Parts: sequence; C-alpha cells; structure tokens
Amino acid sequence: AESKTLQGEHVVITAGPTREPLDPVRYLSNHSSGKMGFALAEAAAKAGAQVTLIAGPVHLATPAGVHRVDVESALDMQQAVAASLPDCTLFIGCAAVADFRAEQVGAEKIKKTADSDTMALTLTKNPDILAWVAEQPKAPFTVGFAAETQKVAEYAQAKLKRKGIRMIVANDVSNSALGFNSDDNAAEVFWYAATGEVTSRCFQQRSKTQLATDLIELISEQKH
Ligand code: C5P
Repeated sequence: AESKTLQGEHVVITAGPTREPLDPVRYLSNHSSGKMGFALAEAAAKAGAQVTLIAGPVHLATPAGVHRVDVESALDMQQAVAASLPDCTLFIGCAAVADFRAEQVGAEKIKKTADSDTMALTLTKNPDILAWVAEQPKAPFTVGFAAETQKVAEYAQAKLKRKGIRMIVANDVSNSALGFNSDDNAAEVFWYAATGEVTSRCFQQRSKTQLATDLIELISEQKH
C-alpha cells in the first residue's frame, strides 16, 4: 500500500515562469515549462496532502486532486501565495519568478519612433516570494530551488542561508539535457539537519516525476 506521508499537510507550490507586462500586448518572461512544480504537486497530492498549485502561464494539465490558481506576474503570484499561507504547512517555491518587472507599464501600446534606433526600459526588482514566505511569523517549512551554471554546491548553500529557508534543491542548468523544459532532472539537495548542520543528498538524472516523488519523500522525512 502507498504510504500517505503528507496526510494532514497543506502544501503550497509555485510553478512555471512569471510574465511581466510592458504594455497591453507585450511582456518579459522566461522559458520555464512548469514541469518540475507540476510533478511536485502531483507527488504531494499522492502523498495525501491538500495541494495548492500557484502557476504562471504554462501548457500543462492540472494534476488530479490539486487546487490550481493561475497567475501572470510576480506581484500576482505573491498575492496568491499570501492568500494561501494562513493554513500552509509546507511551501515549495519552484517557480522561475522574473527578477525584474517594468517600472512603468504602458496603458497603451508602446510605439517605435522614426527618430531613435534604441529604446530604454527601466526595470525594478520583484519581491523574492520565497524569502518573504520564510520570514513570515508563522512560516511553513520552506523549500526553494536553485538553478546554477557553476559552483552549484557553494551557491546553493549560500542561497539556503540568505533566503532563510529550510531546504534547497540545486540544479546544474549548464547541462542542457536537464532542467528547464526537459523531462529529466538531477539535483543536489541541501538542508539543515536536526543538529543544525547542513546536510546534502545527490539525486542522479531521472524523470521529473520520479525526482518529485523522491523529493517529497525526503521533505516529509526532514520536516518534523
Ligand atoms: O535567487 P534565485 O532566483 O536563484 O532563487 C530561486 C528560488 O527562489 C526558487 O525557489 C524561486 O522559486 C524563488 N524565487 C522567488 N521569488 C523571486 C525569485 C526567486 O520565490 N522573486
């Protein structure tokens, strides 16, 4: 029989890219497919959790038994996260949140002009949703992701500390067979053991579905 390791938990997961509007017809975004976050939502639901999946614009079906909230921008995503936080016991930030948004969003379509071959966009930093969740007074167990192209272990551990989270899942995205848009992934996970020491585990290349199941098992072991 399947063990329901997350029975009684309310898991909130962010997934996919965010889309930052420039004007009514244009936006800034990235190539995140949302596959890893959706796989985690499915694995968490199978483990018996109540699951809220806060998704940026992606082309994926909602996993069975999962409550999905669709959002566009990082600010929308933060609002949806805030609304789901009161009874959340586990938060997994898997979304590729845009670091910046346009400082001013045009009410009308931005026009090109004959007199200039360049145009400047001023961007402003988006909130770090993951770090913001972790600093809430009654913060859930928070898990983040880190896509790195070099010094993966070093940068991931720095991110674990800087963001005040409990666990981080690091991916080496310099390997194009893995990560963004791929069906497979590999990861090195770092977390604080009961002793307070940072501990790690490597998950070699496997399907995102399998990695999600393995991560949910590790999280359920470590969150108490
Ligand atoms: O700092 P970096 O973007 O590499 O951190 C990645 C982690 O932080 C992911 O878990 C991502 O979902 C989360 N994040 C966030 N809000 C942001 C930027 C990143 O929740 N604005």
